[in-house]
Amino acid sequence: MPETDIPAKGKTARPASGTLRIDTTNLFADQVGPGGVTADDLLRCGDALRRVHSDLVTRSAGGIDSPFACLHLPAAMQPALPQINAMAAELRGYRDILLIGIGGSNLGTKAIRHALKPENDTPHAARGQAGPHLHFVENVDSYHLEQLFRQLSPDTTALLCISKSGGTIETIVQYLILRDWLQRTLGTEQARRRQFVVTDPEQGWLRELVRNEKLASLPVPPQIGGRYSVLSAVGLVPLAALDVDVDALLQGAAHFAALCRSDDPQDNPALRLAACYYLLESRHDKRISIMMPYVNRLRLFADWYCQLWAESLGKWQGPAPGAAAAGSLPVRAMGAVDQHSQLQMYLESRRDKMFTFINLEHWNHDFAIPLDAQAQQGFPYLEGRSLADVIHAEFHATRQVITDAGHPNLTLEMPVLDAYTLGQLIDLYQRTTIYTGLLYGINPLDQPSVEKGKKLTIRYLSQSQG
Ligand code: PA5
Repeated sequence: MPETDIPAKGKTARPASGTLRIDTTNLFADQVGPGGVTADDLLRCGDALRRVHSDLVTRSAGGIDSPFACLHLPAAMQPALPQINAMAAELRGYRDILLIGIGGSNLGTKAIRHALKPENDTPHAARGQAGPHLHFVENVDSYHLEQLFRQLSPDTTALLCISKSGGTIETIVQYLILRDWLQRTLGTEQARRRQFVVTDPEQGWLRELVRNEKLASLPVPPQIGGRYSVLSAVGLVPLAALDVDVDALLQGAAHFAALCRSDDPQDNPALRLAACYYLLESRHDKRISIMMPYVNRLRLFADWYCQLWAESLGKWQGPAPGAAAAGSLPVRAMGAVDQHSQLQMYLESRRDKMFTFINLEHWNHDFAIPLDAQAQQGFPYLEGRSLADVIHAEFHATRQVITDAGHPNLTLEMPVLDAYTLGQLIDLYQRTTIYTGLLYGINPLDQPSVEKGKKLTIRYLSQSQG
């Protein structure tokens, strides 16, 4: 339907963008009973909060070369935007882009693409021939690759291989197969022109390949780890290729960073959130943290959050396994879909959960609900209502029953869904995750046990050759 035909309600003027609002009211005991945070909890945590804030400031002092370099990306990437846009422009010359990468190397891009360019999720066959279409090659799955080979033509396809380490097995094996496909069909030189790499500036197998074959490439700053890299070339290149406003994304993140300068949780939203997440898990046994957006397009944002939270905080708080465990288990749910799936259990199960709702205040497109006489008789309360009214009512109702059931919950109110507000959400969660890790006394940047699994995979592959 052409946009002008959409029966929009237009109750509110569309704000150009705005600041994310964080409603923490229902995290507190006066709303949800004994499972909630108390003012006293927060007071007793005061010294720890000042300490972790000062730690964050100290360990970010070296800017992009500091341990918490990710918090500097919004400023540090500005001068790199011309190069990023240049690579994106080259990629736009192709009908299909295969983004080969996994974990932190693609989850942020997936989340933002899904939020801002959901039409790009549709296979190009269903959209006509306009490009570029971004395909994610992540899990090792021959069926998926086979489907891609059937759909794509090497002539109109570019490979964008993204790996910070430059050696992740899932990424490398699929890159090898895909570049071999290009080389066999187009020859080495044409294949070379269709390969783009984002990786560590100095180290790793991919960087060496870039040097040897003079492939087009951009660096990931050395201190930036995978799950904190969406605001580096890792996310900005593919997103710019899809015409996402990456400048607004960076500006949104910078805007939020500026709100987080205080060591007082009342004046620093990320510190306040970290304190609440930490207190709820460690003092009130909220072992499960459910993120439930009431916006389809934020479904993959919840995936991004799950990886960031789990890989950063899932650590023993001491030198040996068996020490107290840090972190709550992140779980994704979808409003309103999971009202018809998970909600029953949320309401009648252990009080070991906390919730993060995301609500969109302004829907750009809305539909009035047309009621004929029969529908009017069946659903009189829908008179004069639109789809936005329905999803808002569902969100408010679910939040109320969750609150009444004694589950602490917070709401992220997005004024609109655009690059600027998503940038804010990204900075909020990167910052909150780091603060929370510091409150537990763990390193939120590493993933030692994941590394063990990677090494063991290589051992299995080596053994089976013998
Ligand atoms: O957050 C992380 O560090 C991981 O999830 C990595 O992003 C993931 O393992 C992929 O690693 P790489 O980017 O080195 O290929």
